Amino acid sequence: MTTLGTPLSPSATRVMLLGSGELGKEVLIALQRLGVETVAVDRYENAPGQQVAHHARTITMSDPAQLKALIEAERPHLVVPEIEAIATPMLEQLEAAGTVTVIPTARAARLTMDREGIRRLAAETLGLPTSPYQFCDSLAELQAAIDAGIGYPCIVKPVMSSSGKGQSKIDGPADVQKAWDYAMAGGRVSHGRVIVEGFIDFDYEITQLTVRARGASGEVETHFCEPIGHVQVSGDYVESWQPMAMTPAAIEKSRQIAKAVTDNLGGLGLFGVELFVKGEQVWFSEVSPRPHDTGLVTLCTQHQSEFELHARAILGLPVDTSLRNPGASAVIYGGVEAQGIVFDGVDEALRVPGTDLRLFGKPESFTKRRMGVALARATDTDTARANAKLAASKVRPREV
Ligand SMILES: Nc1ncnc2c1ncn2[C@@H]1O[C@H](COP(=O)(O)OP(=O)(O)OP(=O)(O)O)[C@@H](O)[C@H]1O
Ligand SMILES: [Mg+2]
Repeated sequence: MTTLGTPLSPSATRVMLLGSGELGKEVLIALQRLGVETVAVDRYENAPGQQVAHHARTITMSDPAQLKALIEAERPHLVVPEIEAIATPMLEQLEAAGTVTVIPTARAARLTMDREGIRRLAAETLGLPTSPYQFCDSLAELQAAIDAGIGYPCIVKPVMSSSGKGQSKIDGPADVQKAWDYAMAGGRVSHGRVIVEGFIDFDYEITQLTVRARGASGEVETHFCEPIGHVQVSGDYVESWQPMAMTPAAIEKSRQIAKAVTDNLGGLGLFGVELFVKGEQVWFSEVSPRPHDTGLVTLCTQHQSEFELHARAILGLPVDTSLRNPGASAVIYGGVEAQGIVFDGVDEALRVPGTDLRLFGKPESFTKRRMGVALARATDTDTARANAKLAASKVRPREV
């Protein structure tokens, strides 16, 4: 039985988000609706989620001392990582000491914070199908790994990076040096380790949103959302839609892989399992133990969005993953490098049938920073995709 309190009173149920970007903002709103008291943490002031939470805190989350001091001062009931770049060994210590509950678990946060932990778990411990891969610490090791079997084409990624940063495809020997240099410049933490993966020539890729939530008798149950199709450009999502049409066999394999990974990571909450599909073959790529950017589409497609599902699951409440209608999302980039930008054309965008918009409120725009997303519901995903892209194109960010 879950009891929820009154925010800003001694009975409050308090949840701390570590990372308060556009995904965290929606989780915070979902928690607010259930009367949860929220603390939004980010590395910079006025992050999207900080604008809607009860409390805003700004720290360097990769610094274990700062993280420990903040958690001990705030004493939240739950700590919910929203980003990867967190001092996760400190979260494991605090969890082991009984100071806090980490969502889904501190171990899951650690294993998914870099590509090595989760890839070795999936491929070597769980035996799931993945692309062939090697970890390399130098240009020479990278070349040797390619020559020894990874082959061309292949993809090089810094071990610690997200949204395609530092990632590039190698088509032949002439590209190796360039890919190595690019990875070194793009990694989150400047240690020179990369993963090189054989290129999977997939038909399409999906995100399998998977929720671990409590059933009526207290046991953890696994629920699956309809698959989300998406398009990535340079490793960053630009468009997603739900449901993605798949064969029953591919759906079945996707769910088996998602279940195996999430069973192992454990805890409560929503996971975004990224999979590549070719015919009836399915490969595991990676997993976020939290809402996924491509899942923004669920704001217009499901009875409970991925953010509401996460909020409910982590509080021990029941979830409903059913689809309401087909829909799509299209990303709106900043296009300019400036602070306090304005968005023209919002009215025209919302005149496109069945559309909705999220403008994240990020204080600073970069050319390739995601500043908003257009959403469209329709009777089929083709119409939804066309309308989402049309609506996104009508929104024109500009410098004041
Ligand atoms: N081995 C591969 N074969 C073919 N395509 C790949 C491979 N690895 C990655 N990609 C493509 O690049 C995209 C980004 O890769 P990946 O998810 O590993 O990077 P990321 O930086 O973690 O991205 P994000 O944080 O946006 O999920 C994938 O969604 C896929 O489109
Ligand atoms: Mg990814």
